[in-house]
Amino acid sequence: MQTSRRAEASPRSGIREMFDLAASYEDVISLGIGEPGFQTPPHIVEAGVKALREGHTKYTPNAGIPSLREAIAHKMSDYGLNVNGENVMVTTGAGEAILLSLLVTTDPGDEVVIPDPCWPNYFGHAAIAGTNVKLVKTYEEDHFHLRAESIESLLTPRTKALIINTPSNPTGAVLSRQELEDISRVVLKHDLKVISDETYSEIIYDGRRHVSIASLPGMADRTIVVNSFSKTYAMTGWRVGFAVGDSNAITQMAKLQESVSSCVNASAQQACLAALRGPQDCVKEMVEGYRKRRDMLLSGLQEIPGISCLVPEGSFYVFPSIKGLGLSSREAAMKFLREARVVVVPGSAFGESGEGYIRISFCGSREDIKEGLNRLRQAIKN
Ligand SMILES: Cc1ncc(COP(=O)(O)O)c(C=O)c1O
Repeated sequence: MQTSRRAEASPRSGIREMFDLAASYEDVISLGIGEPGFQTPPHIVEAGVKALREGHTKYTPNAGIPSLREAIAHKMSDYGLNVNGENVMVTTGAGEAILLSLLVTTDPGDEVVIPDPCWPNYFGHAAIAGTNVKLVKTYEEDHFHLRAESIESLLTPRTKALIINTPSNPTGAVLSRQELEDISRVVLKHDLKVISDETYSEIIYDGRRHVSIASLPGMADRTIVVNSFSKTYAMTGWRVGFAVGDSNAITQMAKLQESVSSCVNASAQQACLAALRGPQDCVKEMVEGYRKRRDMLLSGLQEIPGISCLVPEGSFYVFPSIKGLGLSSREAAMKFLREARVVVVPGSAFGESGEGYIRISFCGSREDIKEGLNRLRQAIKN
């Protein structure tokens, strides 16, 4: 069948590509995907099972069950947001929330500014929405932090929206309050809307605190905050995320949801309610586990010649430079897969500025990280 230009223009995720390539090799260690190695905490699993037994097996409202919307609104007060249930929409993962946010903030032919490097699914979202992408480069010298003046230099009258992602996948950069204030000044001056992807808001290290741009003066009405249960509660397969913003935008997104999937799985929504209402020690423990894995990976990478690495401030990825190896990022990732049976993602999968880097996930098991490091060391030595 001849497929549409829209489908053909949609790029394939470079992360998935590595994942698929790896499937043809045996004895592979995957440090490629952002999949928590922890299981969903048992009390959340139990709540999901109980919900099924109690008959939560029907459609729910498009925007999600009211109790979960309220609980999410309440959680947002941790980030200084003063919202209620009507400002919240429950979505099929943060991915769907970003797509719907883009669909309600831009029209086909409008421009959206996206950080480079970034989570590559943004390119797919923009292709579906018919929005043109303007990439704002970030640099290792700046610890890959987004600069307000770089954003401003790209704007045209057609630029309607900006996507930011803090903590960042793939770079681990966490934007400070000052940096977000600078960005918000540009946003207000040019009347932009912001889609703030805060999927890793709880996975943050070394005493930093997550700041949401929506909490800054004048920003609440023009920002759609996107977040997820996937990473915070190790719930990737449950597929629940959410968007928080102006109630009119949320109503429009819920309307679009009817044509996409009607609503999110009912029992998964009940499990997420239990996640928010229940004890939060499980989150603290997992984040502490990630911190230990991060430090282990960083000290191992330091011993490998040709690789140098910044300390990630949040998320669970390191983004080391492989420029010293004299290979492109794709060549390096392929070499590591073929010769070391270790999956990493080439930095170029995250945008042009990712060339010269690879992304290594440290959310898996400690054993895999240890063995992965040994194999990488050996492959580079050879
Ligand atoms: C930056 C970022 N945003 C959104 C997502 C999507 O998360 P979800 O599983 O909630 O769709 C991911 C997943 O890796 C991500 O890294």
